[in-house]
Amino acid sequence: MDAFTRWIHLLAVATYIGATLDLAFVFLPAVGAIDDPTLQRRVLARGLKPYNLLTVGALGVLVISGASGLTDWKAQFGADYGRLVWRLVGKLTLSFLLIQVGTYISFGLAHRLVRAELGQLPVEPEKQAGMIRRMQGAAWLALALSAWTVWVGLGLSR
Ligand code: HEM
Repeated sequence: MDAFTRWIHLLAVATYIGATLDLAFVFLPAVGAIDDPTLQRRVLARGLKPYNLLTVGALGVLVISGASGLTDWKAQFGADYGRLVWRLVGKLTLSFLLIQVGTYISFGLAHRLVRAELGQLPVEPEKQAGMIRRMQGAAWLALALSAWTVWVGLGLSR
């Protein structure tokens, strides 16, 4: 991986983790303190729109810059590339799981709330509270998977 691609890869890691830390520890707890479900959904939609854009974009950049790094490795290591295969399988499995959890947060939960607000659909307080709880749990899981993937990624670079 050349220096520029590595910088892009790390910038995308920082963007994903930073935005998800904010979601789990700042935004969702603050939104949970709003008692009026209509106002709560309006605030959720405002915050989740940029969250979706940032994190889906960051995951896309991670996959593209990571794949470009793999191509460089093949050119650099030739036949020895096979020796890295198990570490790579670990890294790619974790990345795959992170992408599943990340897209569940963005498309499975957050985007549905944004669309409901844009379309002015009726507010269902219990359903909304359940979605916030699931988003909170999924955000913690995404953070744990991110930390693990970073750890494996650093091992790969060494
Ligand atoms: C399909 C997705 C991904 C692929 C193909 C990929 C591929 C790679 C490769 C090949 C390297 C080694 C670069 C080198 O030293 O030449 C690397 C490093 C790294 N990756 Fe990924 N990666 C992916 C996703 C992720 C994700 C989701 C994260 C974290 C959330 C991540 C975090 C890191 C980190 C922290 C490094 C170490 C960079 C350094 O020390 O310079 N990667 N990745």
